Amino acid sequence: MSVNSPNLPCAAPLPGLPEWAGFCEAARRSDHYALDLHCLKAAGLQVDLSGQRHSPELQTAGAALLAARHFDTARQQLLNGGIVNSTEQRAAWHSALRAPAPTAEVAKERERMNEFVRVADSERRWRNIIHIGIGGSDWGVRLSLAAFGYRHSWRNVRFLANIDGHALEHALSGMDPHDTLIVIASKSFTTTETLKNGQRALEWLQAAGVANPYEQIVAVTARPDTASNWGVPQKQIFQFWDWVGGRFSLWSAVSLTTALAVSSDVVAGMLSGAAAMDQHFQETPIATNVPVQMALAGVVNRSVLGYGSLNISPYDFRLGNLVPYIQQLDMESLGKSVTTSGEPVGLATGAAVWGLAGTDAQHTFYQWLHQGSDGAPVDFIVCQQADHNQAEHHNLLLANCLAQREALMRGKTYEQALAECEKQGLGEQASTLAHHRVHSGGRPNTLIVLPRLNPFSLGALLALYEHKIFVQALIWGINPFDQWGVEYGKVLANGILQELSGEKETSAEHDASTRHWIDVFKA
Ligand code: F6P
Repeated sequence: MSVNSPNLPCAAPLPGLPEWAGFCEAARRSDHYALDLHCLKAAGLQVDLSGQRHSPELQTAGAALLAARHFDTARQQLLNGGIVNSTEQRAAWHSALRAPAPTAEVAKERERMNEFVRVADSERRWRNIIHIGIGGSDWGVRLSLAAFGYRHSWRNVRFLANIDGHALEHALSGMDPHDTLIVIASKSFTTTETLKNGQRALEWLQAAGVANPYEQIVAVTARPDTASNWGVPQKQIFQFWDWVGGRFSLWSAVSLTTALAVSSDVVAGMLSGAAAMDQHFQETPIATNVPVQMALAGVVNRSVLGYGSLNISPYDFRLGNLVPYIQQLDMESLGKSVTTSGEPVGLATGAAVWGLAGTDAQHTFYQWLHQGSDGAPVDFIVCQQADHNQAEHHNLLLANCLAQREALMRGKTYEQALAECEKQGLGEQASTLAHHRVHSGGRPNTLIVLPRLNPFSLGALLALYEHKIFVQALIWGINPFDQWGVEYGKVLANGILQELSGEKETSAEHDASTRHWIDVFKA
């Protein structure tokens, strides 16, 4: 079976959705890539979908599919703060955090954050910051800092997410506790890793004899009372709200660390870029709505063509943390197999997301993308303009990005490979060696071009993925805003911890292997 046209079965129809069959048929019939340039624009980004299946028939079928899912109503609900998270009965109104005219409570909290930064800057306080948080309370800040703080500021930032004691020691080592601000970011203020690490950081301040250790701790949370009971002074608690999901909390005061390390303007710019993408998503017709079109391509790749993963290749060193950020955003949102009403979806939903910055990626896993038996759709992300003075380097980067993409799309036939081998004078071996040089081609891809990497374009890019993921979830009928799967492991870990520490006997309910290792580690 050629990868160019995998012809994998489109499993059961989506429950209650006769339009699904027509969409699958249209997708299969549209198996051509890059025949025409198909480039859309949104919030200053150019998104080239020429490398995805595309045809007028598929456009029509996609629109019908979205209509059957009441896309217009769902989008309005999302953007107006309706209850879109049905299993937890709450809104997912992160767009309200970046609205050009925010509500009074949002504006007030943002101003408090900015004022905190102004005072710290004017007093030239906090040479060191330890940002403690995990998942959505961590990746967005790491991403923004790598994107805009790569030239280093006078502030030194360490991240502490993992419960591994090595991470703790890495974060604290060499830091001066007398000039260190601890930022504890946690929506729930109950996450074990964050609270344990926060406690250790507090003890580190106390052990160093700092005058008022709690004065050096800031909390960003949707549970201000819990943070206050923990000991954080009220004036140093920045709030966000239940209607902001953890993986969307970058848009809240969780970005305080970014504001301190780079500037409040960076945070403001990211908010504006995301708001511009919200507006595009809200107002643009389906055929030119970029998040919608990317979502339809994603559904084709996953549920019709059967690709099990999505590769993200940012051709920008500064976007190294984009991959884990999107991994959480996408996989925590789309890693579901039942519909909102609890029925099995009946076909493949969210793909595994993985990747690495180009050109490192080329020397790591691109061989698999080009000639492996499975392959994966690729999102190439690149900036037209660089922000360094190494013109030759940027041209090399751009050339590599375009070349890899072209090779993945175009492929190389046996005849072409043979001609190449013969031209190289490989004689008798040519016919055998040519097989090794065949590329099936036809790998789906999207090219996202940012004019340059600035806060606005990064904000727009992140909101683009948020909305894309929302539309995919809508089509599959799943809830993208909960994460029950993560909870199960947390509950089991609590039980095992008690057994490891000897508080409880090893339970007979564990499987034999888990029981064995609990006993070994206990000993
Ligand atoms: O991984 C589960 C999760 O709940 C994420 O959704 C969240 O970003 C992370 O844990 C951290 O949660 P919190 O911000 O409440 O500490």
